[in-house]
Amino acid sequence: MIRKSSNEWALILGASSGFGAATARELARHGYNILGVHLDRQATMPAVHALIREIEALDRKAIFYNENAADERKRHKILDEFTEQYHREGQAEVKVLMHSLAFGTLRPLVGRNDSEMIKKTQLEMTLDVMANSMVYWTQDLVRRELLAHGGRIFAMTSDGANLNLPFYGAISAAKAALESYIRQLAIELGPRGITCNALLAGVTETPALSKIPGARNMLYAAKAKNPFNRATVPEDVARAIIALLQPGTEFINGNTIGVDGGESKISYVGQKTPYQYADLTLLNESSWDPTDVS
Ligand SMILES: NC(=O)c1ccc[n+]([C@@H]2O[C@H](COP(=O)([O-])OP(=O)(O)OC[C@H]3O[C@@H](n4cnc5c(N)ncnc54)[C@H](O)[C@@H]3O)[C@@H](O)[C@H]2O)c1
Repeated sequence: MIRKSSNEWALILGASSGFGAATARELARHGYNILGVHLDRQATMPAVHALIREIEALDRKAIFYNENAADERKRHKILDEFTEQYHREGQAEVKVLMHSLAFGTLRPLVGRNDSEMIKKTQLEMTLDVMANSMVYWTQDLVRRELLAHGGRIFAMTSDGANLNLPFYGAISAAKAALESYIRQLAIELGPRGITCNALLAGVTETPALSKIPGARNMLYAAKAKNPFNRATVPEDVARAIIALLQPGTEFINGNTIGVDGGESKISYVGQKTPYQYADLTLLNESSWDPTDVS
């Protein structure tokens, strides 16, 4: 485990749950202080407090804000307070920015009637929280000179950026935009020694997943086709981020990197390996007639 100096911070947007929380834990174990932004109701706050205690038990700082990360005024307030308390006299630098916000409208773009149709405000809010906010946080970190040379930006994406799911139109567009922003930021921040990558996680059991219609079936299908015979867990992403923080990894830049065991590359469903096809004669090329569709 690499022990970091006590002034290295990770800013995690969506730090209280799922990928963000797992990454906060893992980064704290590796010596990073955590500046976390999340949006929780009272019912889930005990878990947030438990996470903060866990990080502090590792002798790291955990500064968490229960605020809307897409609110411009809140963003300025959080970064002003951070600059004032920790950055002053060079006492803090942000080495990691992780965008892991799950907050969007799951509705058809057109639907069966007018009442089902996604509204302009819902579409714009989804794009704003799940994609544009990453640009604004990055801009403000750069403006304030908080992002360290050698810094890393990670944005959570899904194969929904390229594939279709019912009700996922707005989020799908946000993921496509997020991946595009990452590529563009990689060009612009490379000269500052900062890398940007999108991490494409497989279907993962989190509160966000449970809100997608058909989530149980998605999880079932993911497990059925994943070469590792299991679904992705948040810790898979946390460990990938630790790997991408190692010195010498700065040429891994501007990518969408799968952290899904290969799941998103597999188009068939229900067979864990090709050998589980019912009819193994299909594997025998001489007996395979591609024109036979019976
Ligand atoms: N779960 C999956 O199957 C899966 C797969 C691939 C990618 N992703 C992506 O990973 C990211 C995180 O998802 P997750 O599954 O860990 O979800 P999650 O529900 O476990 O966590 C979401 C986090 O975002 C925070 N949040 C939501 N809206 C916010 C706002 N406006 N301001 C501040 N904080 C806010 C929540 O408080 C929470 O900390 C999302 O972008 C999601 O699309 C999820």
